[in-house]
Amino acid sequence: MAKNLVIFFSRRGQNYVNGDIVELEKGNTELVAEYIRDAVGADLFEIETVKEYPADYIECTEVAKQEQRDNARPKLKAYLHDISEYDNIVIAGPCWWGTYPCAVFGQLEKLHFRGKHVFPVMTHEGSGEAKSRSDLKKFCTHAKVEKAFAIQGSAVPRSEEKVAAWAKKHLG
Ligand SMILES: Cc1cc2nc3c(=O)[nH]c(=O)nc-3n(C[C@H](O)[C@H](O)[C@H](O)COP(=O)(O)O)c2cc1C
Repeated sequence: MAKNLVIFFSRRGQNYVNGDIVELEKGNTELVAEYIRDAVGADLFEIETVKEYPADYIECTEVAKQEQRDNARPKLKAYLHDISEYDNIVIAGPCWWGTYPCAVFGQLEKLHFRGKHVFPVMTHEGSGEAKSRSDLKKFCTHAKVEKAFAIQGSAVPRSEEKVAAWAKKHLG
């Protein structure tokens, strides 16, 4: 049986849900990662920055924009160094200004992807898969980067079946 790993980034706190700002106990992408694990079995690795992003939504968008301009690599609480035991690697994260947060790229740069199947998963509020797949192609060299799976963040709490169906089709 194939071995699956989900590497994910997700932010708790204020978020946009259908045009309103609400407080989320668990981020959308974290929920998606758990749905995948529950559907097909997977280890989860959460990318967490040492310096937390502002809980305030607008402030967070500004910090994220600046990081993107600077191509920043915020320090992470822990880095994953070895993915050799896995066949399938899901990279799941929110769309932040059209791609994954810089913290995700900081983790990916530490890993060797040769021979792996990489599955881009992106939660978003309208941008869809955005640059998830094209950017993963740059960071996951020598991997087979599969089609992206995009899911609207505000629909995630009621999308367990949809995510499970995707996971069973591609990772089961
Ligand atoms: C800093 C920031 C930037 C965002 N930029 C975009 C964007 O460019 N396009 C989009 O569709 N959604 C954007 N969003 C919305 C998030 O992608 C969406 O709410 C996502 O599901 C959040 O996932 P999380 O709860 O796992 O962090 C942005 C949200 C934040 C906080």
